[in-house]
Amino acid sequence: MSDLLQIGSPNERPMPPRAEDLELQFSEQAIAELDALKTHYPNWKACILPGLWIAQREYGGMLTDAAIAEVAYRLKRSAAEVQGVATFYSMYNTQHHPGRHKIEVCTCLSCHFNGAFRVRDYVSKKLGIGNKETTPDGMFMLEEVECLNACDRAPVVQVGDNYHGPVDEKYIDDLLEKLRNSEENTVIKMADQIVQVQLMETERKGTLA
Ligand code: FES
Repeated sequence: MSDLLQIGSPNERPMPPRAEDLELQFSEQAIAELDALKTHYPNWKACILPGLWIAQREYGGMLTDAAIAEVAYRLKRSAAEVQGVATFYSMYNTQHHPGRHKIEVCTCLSCHFNGAFRVRDYVSKKLGIGNKETTPDGMFMLEEVECLNACDRAPVVQVGDNYHGPVDEKYIDDLLEKLRNSEENTVIKMADQIVQVQLMETERKGTLA
């Protein structure tokens, strides 16, 4: 990332990355989506969050330095600024590759009282990975998360945009088996769903304007 920071003199704002320094990967569809979203925000800075969701989908589920730099380039922000936003929110995958399915285990209070750590340990043992680790085959990542706002279903696990709960060992067995046999990539699917919802909202606002 350091070569993309582009910090100028003390009196200059950091500059966006230049296209010639990047290997741009956004598809034509992604560029069109970003262009549509840009028209409905007061400035392009406000479009960083949706831009990152598009990038997370386009880059296979992870916001690499290259993905962050591409968002910065397309929104004319510095890479450091976009990186600051991306690393602030845990739903953006900046540190660890999420694999095809990110198994998010809530370990907050209600889930804790209802066996969340037993669930976490079971998933961990079954997959042979610890918190924020990905299985060698790239299939699963395990992550402990804060309250998912579904405390009435504790203990709760989130995969993609689906909540599962209350879960026990048998439920986890079935869930992992189903995911393993599915063609779906729930990480990319969720990123795309969020982009599509934002586009629909953009259209709706356009209609109301
Ligand atoms: S404590 Fe787990 S969903 Fe709220």
